[in-house]
Amino acid sequence: MNVLGIDIGGSGIKGAPVDTKAGELLEDRLRIPTPEPSSPDAVAHVVASIVEHFGWKGRVGVTFPGVVADGVIKSAANVDRSWIGVDAARLFGGATVLNDADAAGLAEMRFGEGRDRRGVVLVLTFGTGIGSALFVDGVLVPNTELGHLEVHGKDAEHRASARAREEHELSWEKWAGRVQEYLRHVEMLFSPSLIVIGGGVSKKADKFLPLVRLDTPVVPAGLQNEAGIIGAAHAAAEKTPSRTRTAGGARTTARQKAAGRA
Ligand code: BGC
Repeated sequence: MNVLGIDIGGSGIKGAPVDTKAGELLEDRLRIPTPEPSSPDAVAHVVASIVEHFGWKGRVGVTFPGVVADGVIKSAANVDRSWIGVDAARLFGGATVLNDADAAGLAEMRFGEGRDRRGVVLVLTFGTGIGSALFVDGVLVPNTELGHLEVHGKDAEHRASARAREEHELSWEKWAGRVQEYLRHVEMLFSPSLIVIGGGVSKKADKFLPLVRLDTPVVPAGLQNEAGIIGAAHAAAEKTPSRTRTAGGARTTARQKAAGRA
C-alpha cells in the first residue's frame, strides 16, 4: 500500500509517500522547519501543506514526539505544552498518529536492523530528545519514554541526547561516555538482546559507537533518518478499519460488512 508518512520532530517536519510493502520512499521527502511556537494549529498547518504538496488523497500516518494514546497527545517534552490533551488524529484529518520513536522502531524491526529479531529489542533515537521503542518478539510495547529515565539526578535526555552534545559543545568522546552510561542503565533494566541506535546522529555512528562498551550488541539504525516517515506510513497501512458490532455481538470490520462477509 502507498501511504503518506509524516515525521514531526523538534526541529523539522518531514514527509514523503511510502511504499509500505518495500519500506521505501516513493519520492524525495519534503522538510519544513518546525514552527515556533510549535502550537497544534501551527503544526497542523505544516502537516496540511505537506499533504497538499504531494496531492495526497490516501491514508496518512503521522509521528509525534510525545506519548500518544488512541491519537490523543499525553506529553510534550520538546514541543509546545498546549499539545497535551489534543486529539491529534482528529486534528490531522483522521490520520494514524503514534510516538516518533515507536514509528522509527517499527520501521527498523520490519525493514532495518531488527528484522526477524525475537526476544527483547530496544530501538533508541538520539535527536532533540531521546526516544525509545521496546519490542518483545517483534511486538511493540508503546510509549516507553525511556529518554526520561533519571541518570545522576537528571532527565537522561538532558545529558545524552544529540542536542545535549551540541548545546554543551561536548567532544564525541565525552558524549560517548554519557551515552554509554545511559545505555548501561537501560541494559540493566531490560537485558535486551540488541540495541539499535537511531536518530540523525546515527549517520555519524563511527564517531561514537566504537567508544561505547556494553555487553549487549549495539548497532546503528539501518534506515537512519527516514525511519520515522516509513514507520508512520507502515503503522497507518497496518491499521485495521473501524469496527462495528453485529446484533449478535460478534465483531466485524466495516469493510467486511460492506463486502457482505459478515
Ligand atoms: C519525548 C518522547 C520522544 C523523544 C524523541 C522525548 O522528549 O518524551 O516521546 O519519543 O523525546 O523525540
